[in-house]
Amino acid sequence: MTTMADRLLDAMTRFAARRYGGEAVSELEHALQCADLARDGNGDEELQLACLLHDVGRYAVDQVLVSDTTELTRAGTGARGHHEVGAELLGPWVPERVAWCVRVHADAKRYLCATEPEYLDRLSAASRHTLRLQGGVMSPGEAARFAEHRWLRDAVALRRWDDQAKVAGKTTRSLEDWAPLVRRFLQR
Ligand SMILES: [Fe+2]
Repeated sequence: MTTMADRLLDAMTRFAARRYGGEAVSELEHALQCADLARDGNGDEELQLACLLHDVGRYAVDQVLVSDTTELTRAGTGARGHHEVGAELLGPWVPERVAWCVRVHADAKRYLCATEPEYLDRLSAASRHTLRLQGGVMSPGEAARFAEHRWLRDAVALRRWDDQAKVAGKTTRSLEDWAPLVRRFLQR
């Protein structure tokens, strides 16, 4: 029987060489760098898992369902952001906090753009492009509401690691190294 863990690990392996929408690294390199940053930054296992899987909506799901893709395929009607589609895929399997961090990783970018003037300037061109597709910079009211969430710090941490996880040629742990963690959470 193929489990969700197998399905995700397989998708990550198959899309390993594919570029991460307009960035200098592949989807897999990006995921592995993000997970490493969480682990080296003392993120707990849930946060490490969220970092590894935060972009599953970009490669483990039919992109017709995704509205903020940088691919040339056209989004179908009813398509939503890759963060929402990804969080829904993971939702039945992972702790609520993991799925929430995945769901809000675009909102965390919109939040940081609203609260840190330099943040927007540091975003990659591709990330600035998708910012528009994801609703743009948060209004002060939206940012204040977002800031009250009990997992705000996790969402912001994931977002910063996400932004840093785009270094061409960086050495990381392999997907094999992460497979036991993925299986522990998603093989039930
Ligand atoms: Fe990402």
